[in-house]
Amino acid sequence: MKATFKQLLNLQVGAAISECSGIENCNGNVITASKPEFGDYQANGIMSVAKQLDRNPRELAQQVVEHLNALENNIVESYAIAGPGFINIRISNVALLSLANVALLKPEALVTRVASPATIVVDYSSPNLAKEMHVGHLRGTIIGDSLVRVMEKVGHKIIRQNHVGDWGTQFGMLIAFMQELQKQKTGELPQQLSDLEQFYRAAKNKFDADPEFADEARKSVVKLQSGDPSYKQVWNQFIEESLTHCEEIYDKLNITLSRDDLDAESRYNDDLEGVTELLNSKGLLSESDGAKVVFLSEFVGKDGNPLPVIIQKSDGGYLYSTTDLAAIKFRSEELDADRSLYVVDARQSLHFQQVFAVSKSAQLTSDKISLEHIAYGTMMGSDGTPFKTRSGDTVKLIDLLDESVRRAYDLVTEKNPELDKELCLSIAKKVGIASVKYADLSKNRTSDYIFDWSMMLSFEGNTAPYLMYAYARIKSILRKGEAENFEEEIISIDENEERLLILKILQISDIIHSVSEDCFPNQLCNYLYELAGLFMRFYEACPILKSDPLKRNSRLSLAKLTASALQQGLDLLGIETLERM
Ligand code: ARG
Repeated sequence: MKATFKQLLNLQVGAAISECSGIENCNGNVITASKPEFGDYQANGIMSVAKQLDRNPRELAQQVVEHLNALENNIVESYAIAGPGFINIRISNVALLSLANVALLKPEALVTRVASPATIVVDYSSPNLAKEMHVGHLRGTIIGDSLVRVMEKVGHKIIRQNHVGDWGTQFGMLIAFMQELQKQKTGELPQQLSDLEQFYRAAKNKFDADPEFADEARKSVVKLQSGDPSYKQVWNQFIEESLTHCEEIYDKLNITLSRDDLDAESRYNDDLEGVTELLNSKGLLSESDGAKVVFLSEFVGKDGNPLPVIIQKSDGGYLYSTTDLAAIKFRSEELDADRSLYVVDARQSLHFQQVFAVSKSAQLTSDKISLEHIAYGTMMGSDGTPFKTRSGDTVKLIDLLDESVRRAYDLVTEKNPELDKELCLSIAKKVGIASVKYADLSKNRTSDYIFDWSMMLSFEGNTAPYLMYAYARIKSILRKGEAENFEEEIISIDENEERLLILKILQISDIIHSVSEDCFPNQLCNYLYELAGLFMRFYEACPILKSDPLKRNSRLSLAKLTASALQQGLDLLGIETLERM
């Protein structure tokens, strides 16, 4: 198939409405039916057109259905008018079986590819390198990575950009502190930096307590930013060490970012002056207390006064926003992006609204580019405040992940006390990481969410362990003696549970395309949860191994296809499946 069911039906119904109403480019407005009794899909596009023409919607629907029935169509079995003028659509069993069998032979056929691939820049994870990654970086890293996997799967060209913070005053302080330690010769650098968090705190304490050192720190930033080789060298060492910390996390979390995806703030250092001049030449810059700022009428503070976007401070230093403006220009001009996504905490919404607006006023980009802040809410502790350690410190991400693996290990050994220790550990690694990721991805990203160990590690409900277990269970059925060398073809679709399961499997493509467009991975999680539920219903209602050979082959094939859909879906969430659990 060239498109998903939803895309095809949308086109067909849309065209039919246009044909019958005389209005061009009508939208079929097709959605997945909410209840199987209503058919498989529902077209909602008639009512608004009928209203526009002041016509009876059911009459128009009647005409549209007659038109659709006259067309040659090998995927739809029937159209039925319902309610005030919806059309309920039922897919034909012949189409379901034939598409399912294609996917059985060629699993990648389950997800269709877009007709015209776009170039999409995805800025995600993007930690500040002055400190170690902490829980605040978890959501952006996981959500961003799922989105790039999804978009790549449907055929877009994805450019990952890890816009790490590696520039600015904090680094002056850290460099000065490193030089201080080197003078005192207190051990090798890698050792001193093995705990970046501690290193940062020690430097900050000294900065706050020792004015001479603070002065040194400020001089170091200037030296660094003006390109002094010896400062650059120390800075490089620090950045290298900090990136190694990040990579350890990415590795543990199964995140696809690599060194090639780095798009550090420092990269734009030489462009900042040019951007400032450009804003000036467009007449957008004003002076405010010695700083260069942009005022845009759409941004006013609580007091009603206009809010400035600061481009250059009075001491000549540039800001986070200035770097983002330079990056926008680069992503549009050099990377030629159609979409540029920023998977960043919702608390930076104002920042992105402002830089997008300045970029628009200054025409920094091509017309085609769509700049989108893919915002996510805060991860909360059980007390409903941002997740912290008991002593109120931020939680290091590495500690959180290790704890999850430890908890998963206890869970796995409790469930299978006789299992070999090594095996338990390797299962626990996957389950522990998957649980943290899935708990996050399965929530609507825009809301805050409560981090809850017992919920995420449960084998019941919409969780990673439940889905991984469903997958492993299907795999164990396929390993049974009766399943040996079964003939792979799905022919049996008469039981309601069979049909619902086949339809659901084939709908994975609808879902993945919608995640690629709207950037809500929780849709995919909900889908996988429902898919696993439908498999369980099928498994209870339709004997597999005990059926006659024809049915047995067919149902084993359907089980295999379900496993393939689960595996592909989980893979797009960055979750690895286990053959046994
Ligand atoms: N480094 C920033 C932070 O830790 C996030 C960067 C997000 N990306 C961007 N282009 N501004 O808050």
